Amino acid sequence: MDPNAPEAAPHDVRDWRDHAAFFLNLSRLCPDEVVPYMAQGQPAFLINRPEHVTHVLSTAQANYRNPYHPYAELAGLYRPEGSFLLRLGHRAEHRSGYTHLLTRMVASARARFHALGESSRQGPVEMERELKELILCVFAQALFGVDVAAESEPFVRAVTLLEEVQANHVFARGADTGALRLRYQQAVEDQGRLVERIVQGCPEMREAVEEAPERHSLVHTAIIRTLLNGYNAMATGVGWTLHLLAQHPEIQRQVRDEARALEDELLSVRDLPRLHLTRGVVQESLRLYPPAWMLGRHARGEDRLGGITLPAGAVISVSPYTMQRHPGVWEEPDAFRPERFLRAEGRPPGAYFPFGGGIRSCPAEHSVVGPLQLLVATLVREHQVEPVPGVTVRPRGLVSLRPSPTLRLSLLPLA
Ligand code: HEM
Repeated sequence: MDPNAPEAAPHDVRDWRDHAAFFLNLSRLCPDEVVPYMAQGQPAFLINRPEHVTHVLSTAQANYRNPYHPYAELAGLYRPEGSFLLRLGHRAEHRSGYTHLLTRMVASARARFHALGESSRQGPVEMERELKELILCVFAQALFGVDVAAESEPFVRAVTLLEEVQANHVFARGADTGALRLRYQQAVEDQGRLVERIVQGCPEMREAVEEAPERHSLVHTAIIRTLLNGYNAMATGVGWTLHLLAQHPEIQRQVRDEARALEDELLSVRDLPRLHLTRGVVQESLRLYPPAWMLGRHARGEDRLGGITLPAGAVISVSPYTMQRHPGVWEEPDAFRPERFLRAEGRPPGAYFPFGGGIRSCPAEHSVVGPLQLLVATLVREHQVEPVPGVTVRPRGLVSLRPSPTLRLSLLPLA
């Protein structure tokens, strides 16, 4: 920053409904700086250089805690030395368990895609909702051995509302929220119903609660947290990838050719190495539309970055969304170009981090791209994916980066 330049007024995030657009504009207006802004009356800073991302998330991570983790005290549950939940997660990721999980996921996804293809003859399908319900059921079955098909629709609807309310601080804004409060209450109950079904249906969960009833709400929270992290990010990632393929029919055709060159009727782990372009497509989709688009931190102590002093207590925003579209790092940053990931392109550390970084990075990072590849390849192999004419879909930054309006697509079954 030029030391002689007049001090810029901090930008204010309070009245922005479209947070993703706000931060993208902010990062592009001030391309090379740590950018000050105000969040809920607090001084806040948007990190805007790859080396600063690495600093905050990894090198100096001890100084930057994660305040927005709604259940921070549960983080240990997910770590290798952690709890029963983690062991369950790892069991699913254990080599044969993981292979089995993917096989089951592909089989149920394929059956669902066929049904959607049929209903798409009458008109576009609600792709975002369908993907969320499908992946929620797969995860609940894989992690807890519980069938939640009957509860999945109200649960997904509830999470959608709760995310909207939380990300926009709706109640804190003091809006007249009488009717909304009722819907909110209903959503909390719908969410709880599915979790209770898991507690009752999964012996390990039930025992954990029976052994220590005071841990009941902790167990509830841990289940919700695991499901939200898992199904929501996955379904959002698949949704954005399909959106991009619908917008780019030539690349969609190449992905289809790649999948059709495989002999297996049901795609599986062993097909992953040959789904090379599909992998690039998924990685490029996670670049343009990272589901976890904003990672928040609080500075414990004062720090200096890019010539700016970050005071103790400052809100630090590290955004995969803005950094992965940074024009100083990426050529044609807004263009969909999967080939970036097909060859080794030199990228500075901290330029691409859809799974975060440092100690709080996503524990599922290395198990997620494979399932995304398989889901996308399975769908595109047998269907032509088309956008709804006249509808422009934009990213909306809530807790996750959601398509707005909700993603609807036509799936035309192919011979
Ligand atoms: C496309 C899929 C996914 C994406 C893009 C994604 C992304 C992320 C990111 C960026 C973080 C770090 C948040 C931060 O630093 O503030 C994170 C954390 C986490 N993710 Fe994922 N994730 C995905 C899938 C999953 C799945 C499938 C699971 C589990 C089944 C999972 C479980 C978690 C958990 C438990 C954390 C919290 C870790 C902690 O705070 O210690 N994620 N994820």
